[in-house]
Amino acid sequence: MESKTSRSPSPEFSPLAIGTDLAPPRELKAAATTDLDFSGLLSNAIQLHEDLKSGNGGQAWPAGMVLAKHMLRYHRHDLQNSRILELGAGGGLVGLGVASGCDITQPVYVTDQVNMLPLMEKNVALNKLGSRVQPAVLNWGEPLGADVVNFKPDVILAADCVYFEPAFPLLLATLSDLLALCPSATIYFCFKKRRRADMQFLKRAQKAFQTVELVDQDREVFSRENIFLYSFRSKTRESKSAS
Ligand SMILES: C[S@@+](CC[C@H](N)C(=O)[O-])C[C@H]1O[C@@H](n2cnc3c(N)ncnc32)[C@H](O)[C@@H]1O
Repeated sequence: MESKTSRSPSPEFSPLAIGTDLAPPRELKAAATTDLDFSGLLSNAIQLHEDLKSGNGGQAWPAGMVLAKHMLRYHRHDLQNSRILELGAGGGLVGLGVASGCDITQPVYVTDQVNMLPLMEKNVALNKLGSRVQPAVLNWGEPLGADVVNFKPDVILAADCVYFEPAFPLLLATLSDLLALCPSATIYFCFKKRRRADMQFLKRAQKAFQTVELVDQDREVFSRENIFLYSFRSKTRESKSAS
């Protein structure tokens, strides 16, 4: 069943609220389309269709909302020359928000596993953003495809991608590959700590990359919900600029 609703509260990471790739849900939240203006940061709201039948990325996650708002608030006018790629985009929440509200000149790649592709495509069509958002499959831990290598993203977005411990090394490998491909790139990384292991991910990232916790006017509020917002950059770039 599909309906158009006002925004529901951000989901908690409950096995009953997520898709079949982690735990078979007893009852899926009904598919629905919601208008989202990111607390007024978009003058024209985007429509986000959410459907957990696609997988756990089929609904908007709390770190996605935080990251989208951060990009709209602090990077609205400095992405004109950027090549933007989103990892684990789910239905495309962050990428659609950035493509709608930020000044961009190249399409934003929104990527996820193949099961999420139809939902990303649906949301791009729903918002008539075909010229500004390009959905694609990108599996963490696999070699980057030729399209990504050619695109050479220099702004990488990742929201709520820390939730499944076996995937941590895969995600770290892809982040490393992307920074090796473009050593000047910045990764905007937002996650919600749900388990102690999630901080292990951050520790590994801190070893591998130059990490900075980002300033954001909402930080006090979202940090109470255990949401963390970082930038990751290549350490190679750091040592080059120091020398
Ligand atoms: C919790 S959802 C977050 C979705 C969206 N970023 C948001 O904030 O609303 C995590 C996403 O990561 C994707 N994902 C999980 N493992 C992956 C992998 N190995 N390769 C690519 N994407 C993966 C899932 O399909 C899912 O869409």
